[in-house]
Amino acid sequence: MSKSAPSFTCTACAASFRKWAGRCENCGAWNSIIEEAPLSSGPKAIGPRGRQIPLSDLATEEAPPPRAKSGMSELDLVLGGGLVPASAILVGGDPGIGKSTLLLQAAASFARQGVKCLYISGEEASAQVRMRAQRLGLADAPVQLGTETSLRDILTTLDAERPGLAIIDSIQTMWLDTVEAAPGSVSQVRAAAHELVNFAKRRGVAIIIVGHVTKEGQIAGPRVVEHMVDTVLYFEGERGHQFRILRAVKNRFGASDEIGVFEMTGQGLAEVTNPSALFLANRDAPAPGSAVFAGIEGTRPVLTEIQALVAPSPLGTPRRTVVGLDSGRLSTILAVLEARVGIPFTGLDVFLNVAGGMRVTEPAADLAVAAALLSAREDVAIPRDMVLFGEISLSGALRPVSQTENRLKEAAKLGFTQAALPKGSKPGAAIGLNLRGMADLAAFTGEMFGA
Ligand code: TYD
Ligand code: MG
Repeated sequence: MSKSAPSFTCTACAASFRKWAGRCENCGAWNSIIEEAPLSSGPKAIGPRGRQIPLSDLATEEAPPPRAKSGMSELDLVLGGGLVPASAILVGGDPGIGKSTLLLQAAASFARQGVKCLYISGEEASAQVRMRAQRLGLADAPVQLGTETSLRDILTTLDAERPGLAIIDSIQTMWLDTVEAAPGSVSQVRAAAHELVNFAKRRGVAIIIVGHVTKEGQIAGPRVVEHMVDTVLYFEGERGHQFRILRAVKNRFGASDEIGVFEMTGQGLAEVTNPSALFLANRDAPAPGSAVFAGIEGTRPVLTEIQALVAPSPLGTPRRTVVGLDSGRLSTILAVLEARVGIPFTGLDVFLNVAGGMRVTEPAADLAVAAALLSAREDVAIPRDMVLFGEISLSGALRPVSQTENRLKEAAKLGFTQAALPKGSKPGAAIGLNLRGMADLAAFTGEMFGA
């Protein structure tokens, strides 16, 4: 990019354009494009230029340093088995969801395991951070605190201190004096993150960068940083719910889609080591419209309750409201039910929800979704001790999904006694469950609802 050329950047997705537009062509956000000063310097090369090493030599270099464990098992799991030295990690999430709380607890845990930790807050005064630490019962944890927003000063401190882990809370408050833009702008966020990631690699300091998700406006969101870091974690949850889910959406050092589950309490975040039990804890008496899905999140099985409500619609175009699932998937399943099984939802409002604030993305949830919908429509409850899973194809056939055995084992562990699943699934050594294999949605509907 030539230095004089004006540059316009979308604050939502960081796409850059030659000219301004009201709507971002890349992500579709309105009013998100702003003019930005071009980057003054490109990425600097690390180490001697152009040196090449045969791949085989890399393998014979010493074994990778061990990962540091925090002792917070949910966090270690999401990181892919602990913190990788010199890695750069982004933790994104809505403001107020609990990122600072999580990371202060993480810093204390890592510090207690002997990792030198520096927590730098650009948002709160040190008295405020200390108050939070007291509330969390961490006032005596050996964590170094800093309140600073000048990245140059922060990097100088990090260079002198050489901690094992530095936490930067948040990237939107940081600024570099070489960039002529306000903190939080795309160019500042990008340049600051770039410096931090470079520093992490060069100096062997693991860095966790906090980024607030911004709906719209002048502040650049964590997406600007996503491609620069090794690991991207999002902290999610409904504000009214106490459950929080830390989800890996990208991880160079572990499974993506891994989740860690926490509960926000008066004394900070408590780990939930058995999420299935938690998500199913408040299940009401058997009621029409509820189906338990045996899912896989990352490397572990998680059972969730899928709830549907179907009611006559007063509207010309009935409502389709979905929370925690993909709405496109709902439309597909409704279409398959109508076309292949002959059960229409025309004139009916449909509400679909995953209990506990979970978000389910697996196609394996199809069968449980269809079951919840049918159960709500026919007003017939699904047996309380049954789990369901399976992908529905457009022909209405049920397709086996991965990790059948793990799903069934988790269900058996939680006291379920039967499972509806695609015919041809390989249950392996899963025992103690009555398996009801079904070839297609019509067979399922006939067997479960006599329709
Ligand atoms: P915070 O970590 O400040 O959120 P973020 O850094 O993502 O903006 O969390 C703020 C919320 O968490 C606030 O609404 C209060 C609540 N909270 C608790 O419920 N218990 C606690 O122990 C703490 C420290 C915060
Ligand atoms: Mg915060």
